[in-house]
Amino acid sequence: MTATEAITATDRRVTFPPGFLWGAATAAYQIEGAARDDGRGPSVWDTFSRTPGKVADGHTGDVACDHYHRFRDDVGLMAELGLGVYRFSVAWPRVQPDGSGPANPRGLDFYDRLVDALLNAGIVPYATLYHWDLPQALEDRGGWTERDTAFRFADYAAVVRERLGDRVELWSTVNEPWVAAFLGYGSGVHAPGRTSAHDAFRAAHHLLLAHGLSVRELRAGGAARVSLTLNLAPVVGRGGGAGPAGPDTAAADLVDALLNRQFLDPVLRGGYPEPVLAAAARLGGLDHVRDGDAAVIAEPIDLLGVNYYNPTYVAAAPGTPADPAFPGSEGVAFPPADPPLTAMGWPIVPDGLGEVLVRLSRDYPGVPLIITENGAAFEDERGPDGRVPDPCRIAYLDAHLRAAHAALASGADLRGYLVWSLMDNFEWAEGYGKRFGLVYVDYATQRRVLKDSARWFRDVISDNGIAANGTGGHT
Ligand code: FCB
Repeated sequence: MTATEAITATDRRVTFPPGFLWGAATAAYQIEGAARDDGRGPSVWDTFSRTPGKVADGHTGDVACDHYHRFRDDVGLMAELGLGVYRFSVAWPRVQPDGSGPANPRGLDFYDRLVDALLNAGIVPYATLYHWDLPQALEDRGGWTERDTAFRFADYAAVVRERLGDRVELWSTVNEPWVAAFLGYGSGVHAPGRTSAHDAFRAAHHLLLAHGLSVRELRAGGAARVSLTLNLAPVVGRGGGAGPAGPDTAAADLVDALLNRQFLDPVLRGGYPEPVLAAAARLGGLDHVRDGDAAVIAEPIDLLGVNYYNPTYVAAAPGTPADPAFPGSEGVAFPPADPPLTAMGWPIVPDGLGEVLVRLSRDYPGVPLIITENGAAFEDERGPDGRVPDPCRIAYLDAHLRAAHAALASGADLRGYLVWSLMDNFEWAEGYGKRFGLVYVDYATQRRVLKDSARWFRDVISDNGIAANGTGGHT
C-alpha cells in the first residue's frame, strides 16, 4: 500500500473560516547559507555539522538554499503561491555574532530587506527568534544549561524588536524547546550533541525562561501578537497492556508529561506537571528552577504555534532503560510505527493532528492556535518533463487539512495552517537527503521548481478550502 492509497481523503469540499491564515515555514540555518557573510558568527549547528558522523553525508548549512542571496526570488515564489503569511527565523549569530553585546547591523539588514520584500508582496512576516542556531560562543559558556543564556536571549529579542518591530506584527519566541533541549542535550542527535539527562532538563527550563523573558521584551515594544511554537503529539499506548488502567496507559501518560505537558503546563497553567518534576529531581535535581521563574514562563501569549508530524507510540516494558530523548521514561518502550510512513520513517496519521487541536482547546482553553508546521518528506524527483509530481505530499496535506477542519468544527480555535516547508532544505541530522518542500530545490544549480503540491496548495489558498475528491481548489 502506498502512502497515497492509505490516505484516502473523504470526498467532501471543506471551506475554512474567512481570514484563515495560509502560509509556509522555514528556518534560518536550514535555508540561508551565507554562513560567513556580513559578520555572521558560528552557531552550534556550524560546529555540529562539521563534526564527523553527526549529519548524514557530512552535509552542512554553509550554502543550503542560498536564500540569503536569493530571498527576493523566493519571496516571488511565495507570492506566486498566494501565501498570506511566511514564517521564517532570525539567526541569532547574524544579529549578535558571539551571542551578546551590540547588534551587528549588517546581519539585521538582511531581515530588514526580507521583511520589506514580504510586505511589498502582501505577505505577513511571522518571525521566529530561535530556531536552534545558538551562537557557539554561548554554548562555549554552557549553552542552554546556563541560566545566563536566557537573559542573553532576552537582550537579543530586544535588539531584533527594535529593528523589525515597526513592521513585524507576528512573532514566535522559541521553536520546539523539547527538540532543542532533549535532542540537543539529551540524546545528542542534534547540536550541540550533549548527552546528559540533567543537562536536558536544565536546557528545557532555560529555554522556557528565555521564552517568557522575550515575550516581555517583545511586549515592551508593543509587538502585536506573540506566540511560542511547540512540537506536540498524541502519545498512544500500544503494547499488550492497553485499557484505561493498564500499564500502557500509565506509560503514555508519563511520556505525554515529558513531551507535551512539560511545556504546555508551565506556559499555560503556571507550573510543571508532577511527573516532570519527579524525573528532573531524580536525575540531577531542580536547583535550576528559581522562585519567580514560573510567573515569567507563564507570561500570557496571544497564539500557540503547533508543529505536528506524527503520534508517539509507547508500550509498558518493565526493565527497559530510559530512551535518552525521554529521560525519566524507564520501563517504557517506543515500538516502531506501522506504515504508511514518510521518507523520514514517520507514520502518517492525520487524525493525530485533530486530536492535538481538540485536546488543546479542551485542556488549555483561551489561547488561539495556529499550525506553524505540518508536512512530510517523500522521495521527490524531477520527471523528464521537468515537473516534480508529489501525489503523496498532496494526499498528506489534504488529509491533515481535513483533520484540522474537523477539529475546527468541534470547536478548536484554529487560526491558520503553515506547511513545513516552503522549499527543500537542510533537514538537520538528515542533511539535504530529506525533501520537505512545496518547492523542489536542485542544489547543484539552486534552481527552484514548484512541485505539484505547490500548485495544489496555491489552489487551496485561493479557494480557502479543499475541493471534493481531495484534489484541492479548482484543479
Ligand atoms: C521540525 C523542525 C523543522 C523541520 C521539521 C521537519 O521539528 O522545527 O525545522 O526540521 O521538523
